[in-house]
Amino acid sequence: MLSLGVNIDHVATVRQARRAVEPDPVAAAVLAELGGADGITAHLREDRRHIQDRDVRLLRQMVRTHLNLEMACTEEMVALALAIQPDYVTLVPERREEVTTEGGLDVAGQQPRITQAVLTLQAAGIPVSLFIDPDAPQLLAAQASGAKFIELHTGRYAEAKGEAQQAQTLTQLENATAKAQALGLRVNAGHGLTYWNVGPIARILGIEELNIGHSIMARAMLVGMERAVREMKEAMFGRLERDGLFKIRSR
Ligand code: PXP
Repeated sequence: MLSLGVNIDHVATVRQARRAVEPDPVAAAVLAELGGADGITAHLREDRRHIQDRDVRLLRQMVRTHLNLEMACTEEMVALALAIQPDYVTLVPERREEVTTEGGLDVAGQQPRITQAVLTLQAAGIPVSLFIDPDAPQLLAAQASGAKFIELHTGRYAEAKGEAQQAQTLTQLENATAKAQALGLRVNAGHGLTYWNVGPIARILGIEELNIGHSIMARAMLVGMERAVREMKEAMFGRLERDGLFKIRSR
């Protein structure tokens, strides 16, 4: 059955905006699991702009489903993954100036480096997934690297303008899934998926897991807004404090 990996990076982004202790992405991961998440995904970026090393260590202890560590293909990150032992690693391209992961990993263009990282991680029992665009050369390079999984970048589909472009990008993803499977690769997909565009992707046979972050985090903020404001009003007027709800002092 298709599973859902929830990416919790945005929770850490809000926390880091104030260098505060809340909201905690580890708490968000636990709640996501209570809501039915089949896996938790976190991207430890080289510049540590959202997820911190401490988060990954605690996620490793707290996540009851599976922990997918997204990271760049660097010596530092490979060493960190070996120490943390996530359930699997997804190698992604990383540029400091980007807002989010903008395109797939160029596996074909950096085959030796990626193959080395895949070998090292998989020898330590950590399966590797490569985040790639749905293009034939990248699929072939992914197979040659020995990686067990690929994650198909669904950004072109998510950004398609009009029905024709959406249908064309969907066909690309369907074909890439079939080709990947024929090459012996297991297939995940993600990026830019929303409540409105996820349906056709979820129906592609052969995709095992969708990794979704932004849309779920955006909705969580909105569906939680009324309650959060109501509780602040209650805290202001002492009702919740009298009930003991906000009496715990931070250390
Ligand atoms: N998969 C990968 C490899 C990603 O880098 C991201 C974004 O961090 C996602 C999935 C989730 O994308 P989105 O936040 O647009 O749902």
